[in-house]
Amino acid sequence: VLLQAISAGRLLDGDSWARDAHRTVAGLLVCASVIGGLVALVRLREDAVGRRFGLILAALGVALVVQYGLGAAAADGKRTLWLHIPLGVVLFGLTMRLNVLAGREVRA
Ligand code: HEM
Repeated sequence: VLLQAISAGRLLDGDSWARDAHRTVAGLLVCASVIGGLVALVRLREDAVGRRFGLILAALGVALVVQYGLGAAAADGKRTLWLHIPLGVVLFGLTMRLNVLAGREVRA
Protein backbone atom coordinates (compact mmCIF):
# COMPACT_ATOMS: atom_id res chain seq x y z
CA VAL A 1 0.00 0.00 0.00
CA LEU A 2 2.92 2.32 0.78
CA LEU A 3 4.49 1.42 -2.59
CA GLN A 4 1.23 2.56 -4.22
CA ALA A 5 1.69 6.03 -2.78
CA ILE A 6 5.26 6.09 -4.18
CA SER A 7 4.26 4.87 -7.67
CA ALA A 8 1.33 7.37 -7.59
CA GLY A 9 3.81 10.20 -6.97
CA ARG A 10 5.97 9.03 -9.87
CA LEU A 11 2.98 8.71 -12.20
CA LEU A 12 1.91 12.26 -11.33
CA ASP A 13 5.51 13.27 -12.15
CA GLY A 14 4.90 11.82 -15.63
CA ASP A 15 6.86 8.52 -15.49
CA SER A 16 5.01 6.07 -17.75
CA TRP A 17 6.35 2.92 -16.01
CA ALA A 18 4.78 4.08 -12.76
CA ARG A 19 1.22 3.75 -14.15
CA ASP A 20 1.85 0.09 -15.11
CA ALA A 21 3.49 -0.57 -11.71
CA HIS A 22 0.57 1.11 -9.86
CA ARG A 23 -2.05 -0.92 -11.75
CA THR A 24 -0.15 -4.24 -11.43
CA VAL A 25 0.52 -3.85 -7.70
CA ALA A 26 -3.16 -2.83 -7.25
CA GLY A 27 -4.29 -6.17 -8.74
CA LEU A 28 -1.81 -8.14 -6.62
CA LEU A 29 -2.95 -6.31 -3.46
CA VAL A 30 -6.62 -7.12 -4.14
CA CYS A 31 -5.87 -10.84 -4.75
CA ALA A 32 -3.51 -11.19 -1.76
CA SER A 33 -5.89 -9.59 0.74
CA VAL A 34 -9.11 -11.27 -0.43
CA ILE A 35 -7.46 -14.74 -0.57
CA GLY A 36 -5.42 -14.14 2.63
CA GLY A 37 -8.52 -12.86 4.47
CA LEU A 38 -10.62 -15.89 3.48
CA VAL A 39 -7.83 -18.34 4.41
CA ALA A 40 -7.30 -16.57 7.77
CA LEU A 41 -11.07 -16.62 8.49
CA VAL A 42 -11.17 -20.39 7.90
CA ARG A 43 -7.84 -21.37 9.52
CA LEU A 44 -7.96 -19.02 12.55
CA ARG A 45 -11.73 -19.04 13.23
CA GLU A 46 -11.31 -20.68 16.68
CA ASP A 47 -9.19 -17.80 17.98
CA ALA A 48 -10.65 -14.35 18.77
CA VAL A 49 -7.52 -12.48 17.57
CA GLY A 50 -7.28 -14.73 14.49
CA ARG A 51 -10.95 -14.08 13.65
CA ARG A 52 -10.46 -10.31 13.97
CA PHE A 53 -7.31 -10.54 11.81
CA GLY A 54 -9.22 -12.48 9.11
CA LEU A 55 -12.16 -10.07 9.20
CA ILE A 56 -9.97 -6.96 8.91
CA LEU A 57 -7.91 -8.56 6.10
CA ALA A 58 -11.10 -9.51 4.22
CA ALA A 59 -12.48 -5.97 4.80
CA LEU A 60 -9.18 -4.59 3.46
CA GLY A 61 -9.69 -6.79 0.37
CA VAL A 62 -13.19 -5.35 -0.19
CA ALA A 63 -11.94 -1.77 0.36
CA LEU A 64 -9.10 -2.45 -2.12
CA VAL A 65 -11.66 -3.53 -4.74
CA VAL A 66 -13.44 -0.17 -4.21
CA GLN A 67 -10.03 1.58 -4.35
CA TYR A 68 -9.23 -0.20 -7.63
CA GLY A 69 -12.53 0.99 -9.12
CA LEU A 70 -11.95 4.59 -7.98
CA GLY A 71 -8.38 4.57 -9.41
CA ALA A 72 -9.50 3.07 -12.74
CA ALA A 73 -12.34 5.63 -12.94
CA ALA A 74 -9.86 8.47 -12.27
CA ALA A 75 -7.57 7.15 -15.01
CA ASP A 76 -10.67 7.15 -17.24
CA GLY A 77 -11.17 10.88 -16.67
CA LYS A 78 -13.82 10.63 -13.90
CA ARG A 79 -13.47 12.93 -10.85
CA THR A 80 -12.78 10.23 -8.24
CA LEU A 81 -9.20 11.06 -7.26
CA TRP A 82 -10.44 13.10 -4.25
CA LEU A 83 -11.84 9.81 -2.84
CA HIS A 84 -9.04 7.56 -4.13
CA ILE A 85 -6.26 9.41 -2.28
CA PRO A 86 -7.84 9.62 1.22
CA LEU A 87 -9.02 5.99 0.93
CA GLY A 88 -5.35 5.11 0.31
CA VAL A 89 -4.51 6.73 3.67
CA VAL A 90 -7.32 4.74 5.40
CA LEU A 91 -6.03 1.53 3.76
CA PHE A 92 -2.54 2.21 5.07
CA GLY A 93 -4.01 2.61 8.58
CA LEU A 94 -5.76 -0.77 8.22
CA THR A 95 -2.50 -2.47 7.20
CA MET A 96 -0.84 -1.04 10.34
CA ARG A 97 -3.68 -2.45 12.48
CA LEU A 98 -3.22 -5.84 10.78
CA ASN A 99 0.50 -5.68 11.47
CA VAL A 100 -0.18 -5.27 15.21
CA LEU A 101 -2.71 -8.14 15.22
CA ALA A 102 -0.32 -10.41 13.27
CA GLY A 103 2.23 -9.99 16.07
CA ARG A 104 -0.21 -11.28 18.74
CA GLU A 105 -0.08 -14.88 19.87
CA VAL A 106 -2.77 -17.12 18.35
CA ARG A 107 -4.19 -19.95 20.49
CA ALA A 108 -5.00 -22.45 17.72
C1 HEM B 1 -1.96 5.00 -1.23
C2 HEM B 1 -2.14 6.09 -1.92
C3 HEM B 1 -2.55 6.15 -3.38
C4 HEM B 1 -2.47 7.25 -4.14
C5 HEM B 1 -1.93 8.61 -3.69
C6 HEM B 1 -2.96 6.90 -5.48
C7 HEM B 1 -3.02 7.77 -6.55
C8 HEM B 1 -3.41 7.44 -7.83
C9 HEM B 1 -3.33 8.32 -8.97
C10 HEM B 1 -2.81 9.76 -8.94
C11 HEM B 1 -3.82 7.64 -10.04
C12 HEM B 1 -3.90 8.16 -11.48
C13 HEM B 1 -5.27 8.69 -11.77
C14 HEM B 1 -5.29 9.39 -13.11
O1 HEM B 1 -4.66 8.92 -14.06
O2 HEM B 1 -5.97 10.41 -13.18
C15 HEM B 1 -4.20 6.32 -9.59
C16 HEM B 1 -4.71 5.33 -10.40
C17 HEM B 1 -5.02 4.06 -9.96
N1 HEM B 1 -4.92 3.58 -8.67
FE1 HEM B 1 -4.15 4.57 -7.09
N2 HEM B 1 -3.35 5.59 -5.49
C18 HEM B 1 -3.12 5.09 -4.23
C19 HEM B 1 -3.35 3.81 -3.82
C20 HEM B 1 -3.92 2.82 -4.59
C21 HEM B 1 -4.19 1.49 -4.11
C22 HEM B 1 -3.90 0.95 -2.69
C23 HEM B 1 -4.75 0.81 -5.14
C24 HEM B 1 -5.19 -0.61 -5.07
C25 HEM B 1 -6.34 -1.04 -5.39
C26 HEM B 1 -4.83 1.72 -6.29
C27 HEM B 1 -5.34 1.43 -7.55
C28 HEM B 1 -5.33 2.26 -8.66
C29 HEM B 1 -5.72 1.87 -10.01
C30 HEM B 1 -6.22 0.50 -10.45
C31 HEM B 1 -5.53 2.99 -10.82
C32 HEM B 1 -5.77 3.10 -12.33
C33 HEM B 1 -4.44 2.82 -13.05
C34 HEM B 1 -4.62 2.83 -14.56
O3 HEM B 1 -5.35 1.98 -15.08
O4 HEM B 1 -3.98 3.66 -15.21
N3 HEM B 1 -4.31 2.94 -5.90
N4 HEM B 1 -3.94 6.23 -8.25
